[in-house]
Amino acid sequence: MDANAQKREAAEAALELLPESGVLGLGTGSTAKLFIEGVGRLVKQGRKFQGVATSEQSHRQAQELGIPLLNPDGPWDIDVCVDGADEVSDALDLIKGGGGAHLREKIVNHAAKQNVIIVDESKLSTQLGERWPVPLEILGFAHRAIAKSLEALGEPVQRLRDGAPWRTDSGNYIYDLKVGTIDDPARLERSLALIPGVVETGLFVGRADVVLIASRKGVRRVDKSSI
Ligand code: A5P
Repeated sequence: MDANAQKREAAEAALELLPESGVLGLGTGSTAKLFIEGVGRLVKQGRKFQGVATSEQSHRQAQELGIPLLNPDGPWDIDVCVDGADEVSDALDLIKGGGGAHLREKIVNHAAKQNVIIVDESKLSTQLGERWPVPLEILGFAHRAIAKSLEALGEPVQRLRDGAPWRTDSGNYIYDLKVGTIDDPARLERSLALIPGVVETGLFVGRADVVLIASRKGVRRVDKSSI
């Protein structure tokens, strides 16, 4: 079974966990896209869901599928947020932001009563940082000065798209901070947050309540409360 089929299995497993009706946080990325497809199907079947999108891309997809969306200004009463991740550690901490959407993703994650993360097994690592640098959303103003401050913590590399700076949905830049394996993700997150101009980090520490991991053997569920 290829990674895409596994992503679909994880997305389908998340649909099974949804309440009969309610407000859903709609993640971003290729796995979350499959989940949103499924929500669209359920809405067509008559289930009463409303969505809060974590990116313009997910917003557009949900609109096209006829999923009612809440005003992006909030506040919202989100029952479950379902999102993907780039890396999941044994402690269920995450690196997100491979698609540059981690700022809105973290805001919606923070507002949700329950957060379900859907991944294929390629995303697993023992310690965060084994597979990915840490994506950072950085203010465009003074971004080179901000990057200079980041050098105390790792090697910042500006993310480009077609040779031009990657711009997020909120108009900021992305820097990927190479730090190697991360012993204490919460401490790194705090250190990064202290640097003026770092809008948000892709470290999601203690923010996954349930992780659904698809592999050739099926979908395994890991709960934060069980580790
Ligand atoms: C978007 O910025 C990310 O946080 C995604 O949730 C993450 O990159 C997972 O994406 P895939 O499901 O495409 O791997």
